[in-house]
Amino acid sequence: METHDWFVTVAPGIEDLAAGEMEELVGSAKADVGKVFFRAPLEAMYVVNYAARTVNRLHLLLAREEFESLGDIYGVAKDVDYGPLLGPDRSFAVRCKRIGEHPFTSMEVARVVGQAVIDSCTESLGFRPKVDLEEPDLEITVLVRFGEVLMGVNTTGESLHRRGYRAYHHPAALKTTLAAAMLRLGGYRGQALLDPFCGGATIPIEAAHLARRYPLLLFRKDPYLPKLPFHDPDTERAVREKLLEAATRDPYEITGIEISPKHAEGARINLKTALVEDTVRVLQGDCTRAEIHRDLSAELLVTNPPYGMRSHSLKKIGAFYETVLRALREAHHGVRAVFITASAKPFEEAAARVEVPIPHSRRVMHGGLPAKIYVLEL
Ligand SMILES: C[S@@+](CC[C@H](N)C(=O)[O-])C[C@H]1O[C@@H](n2cnc3c(N)ncnc32)[C@H](O)[C@@H]1O
Repeated sequence: METHDWFVTVAPGIEDLAAGEMEELVGSAKADVGKVFFRAPLEAMYVVNYAARTVNRLHLLLAREEFESLGDIYGVAKDVDYGPLLGPDRSFAVRCKRIGEHPFTSMEVARVVGQAVIDSCTESLGFRPKVDLEEPDLEITVLVRFGEVLMGVNTTGESLHRRGYRAYHHPAALKTTLAAAMLRLGGYRGQALLDPFCGGATIPIEAAHLARRYPLLLFRKDPYLPKLPFHDPDTERAVREKLLEAATRDPYEITGIEISPKHAEGARINLKTALVEDTVRVLQGDCTRAEIHRDLSAELLVTNPPYGMRSHSLKKIGAFYETVLRALREAHHGVRAVFITASAKPFEEAAARVEVPIPHSRRVMHGGLPAKIYVLEL
């Protein structure tokens, strides 16, 4: 079977977890900064776009080269064979992201690559492709990172972190892909799970979807893949059927606690749209109070507490984290807990005061905000 080179884009800090997921889904995978590379047949395009939980977008790899100048980038883009991708009636757009210091902007890279695509098609294929920046038939992604340029065809359209199940939008919602990565890091396999700061229930919903093997295609109704020139309807149907057959409505014990009545109600709305209201419960109350934990026996905690940016001063958030760690340890002694916070120092100092060791921590980017994920035993 013919294989192709692919890469997925990933939030910085969870590349190893995404590579682990890719290995399960499509075979071997190699993590890089903000990306994971792999080689696989076309089937992988459907599997990843319909079932991967920790990644943003899947691209068909077109080129990966070192460069020194904008002229080199033009040369890399011009050498690609656009024959299987474009035609006289097919439009394209180039989107560029750039990391590092360069004497040119992302816009300039996109313009130069666009010109290279037009020149390559005109000179080698005998037609001039149309540019359509609004609704192109083909979206070419260019990632420039220091001295490396990476080109690919976007096969995903809108990022996979947009799951399509959120009806209630919590103002500090966690990115779904990070929630899925935290569940992987905590070793979630369907055991009794608690999120004591559940907000709009992103973590409980991701857990339930993982346990029930609900594919993303149940909720993402974007007909993006059929527009691709290398789309194969038979392969797509086979993958779709296999994924839908594997999904179950088995019961799991998943609980969220949320102090705000408004967010708790919002969470319940999201449970319904995410088709998990029969396996996730949301308790409205204060997770630092012992009563709310009385009938709860969690085997894993995964949570995203307030960062304190808006509601607390940094000093207050440190004291709050201390109260939280004491209360959760009291209620769930010895249980593994995965936390994410952008208030790293107050969290680490609070853990030290409460004498909860932190055997694993890592830096991640949550949206544009630097944050840290911690794994500890309560
Ligand atoms: C960062 S948000 C969680 C967002 C959530 N992960 C999501 O994706 O929607 C933290 C949440 O903790 C709630 N919260 C704050 N103090 C709490 C407490 N003592 N007990 C329970 N929930 C609390 C806040 O109301 C807020 O909704």
